[in-house]
Amino acid sequence: MKHAEITGWGKCVPPAILSNKDLATFMDTSDEWITSRTGIEERRICHCNFSDMALVASRHALAAAGLEPGELDLILLGCLTPDSHCPNTASIIADALGARNAAAIDINSACTGFLYGLHIGTNLIRTGAHKKVLVIGGEFISHYMNWAKRDVAVLFGDACGAVVIEATNEETGLLTASIGCESDAKYAIQITNLGSSYSRMTDDFLYVDWNFEGQEVFKRAVKAMAQACENVLEKQNLSVSDIKLVVPHQANKRILDALAKRIGLDENQVFVNVHKYGNTSAGTIPVALTEALEESKIHPGDYLLMASFGAGLTWGAGIIKWSDRITPLKKSDADLPPCNETALEILENHINRYRARSKLTA
Ligand code: ACO
Repeated sequence: MKHAEITGWGKCVPPAILSNKDLATFMDTSDEWITSRTGIEERRICHCNFSDMALVASRHALAAAGLEPGELDLILLGCLTPDSHCPNTASIIADALGARNAAAIDINSACTGFLYGLHIGTNLIRTGAHKKVLVIGGEFISHYMNWAKRDVAVLFGDACGAVVIEATNEETGLLTASIGCESDAKYAIQITNLGSSYSRMTDDFLYVDWNFEGQEVFKRAVKAMAQACENVLEKQNLSVSDIKLVVPHQANKRILDALAKRIGLDENQVFVNVHKYGNTSAGTIPVALTEALEESKIHPGDYLLMASFGAGLTWGAGIIKWSDRITPLKKSDADLPPCNETALEILENHINRYRARSKLTA
């Protein structure tokens, strides 16, 4: 049986930091509220295109795998905030990388986009259809945020991560996954006025906005991720104690604590970086995975558990068996263009536009 080894990994977190204190300068919130309810201390704000972040993460992942872009035969991009829908953004990334032999597909399943992509890519490798696949997950969510809505605006940030997976006969990579969707509750997270729904055929300018039932999403996230984790553990005949590290979606530290309690995980089994980046949606797992490797928290042969939950409401979990190599084959010096503005300066127009509108509609 063929498997799909994770041979490369990389991340891109933009340099501009938006702290909780910064948020409190233009909305009715506080560092105390945000940290105690979410564990988030700061998040990053992107000063360029999403595809610039994706390119940096991809170049690091390719270098770590020791691959040239021309060797890739497929690029899968998990993202709900891409540069463009036509051309699709995976094509933009393929062209910029010089991945001339790769098919390029965008996947929109929100926060689960990376896990869905890894599942699809792994199974395409297993069938023999593809051999070397780049799976990217990331988001430029600050661009779509309603900065006048404090219950949602404090939760998110921008970032991107990527992995390379390659065919192997060794039992390694994503061994099993369980993915699904609670579509009956799809409107619990909704970014309105994106897309071509007929109701948007109007002459008025339509602001993108968020409908977000935080508590409902919280409860469903814990339940669905716990169930998905139990599924994959059972399928793989493993118990929680066999798992060296859980690399979960990072939406809220309280969700991670509740998940750990529900499935009987020890606190130090869970990799947490939500305090630094907030919820970067499809970016959270590949960025966390890359940081776990950078911090030497993953060892050869380790079993890892991933769990994710997002708009849709999509959910999933997967078990990875790490291979022998935990260091990059090569390093890339890829980086974003310099950023000369603070996060508040980058967001100034967005914030003013949404604040003016919320006063009009109040
Ligand atoms: N600052 C200060 N006060 C606030 C803020 C804020 N930023 N936001 C809300 N409040 C207030 C509310 O108005 C409310 O006030 P009230 O009691 O006077 O009405 C109070 O704080 C409590 O609000 P709750 O909604 O009860 O707070 P809760 O403890 O449930 O936390 C949160 C809210 C953080 C949103 C939580 O429910 C959560 O994390 N939900 C899940 C998010 C998630 O999983 N997202 C993943 C998917 S996202 C995706 O896929 C794109």
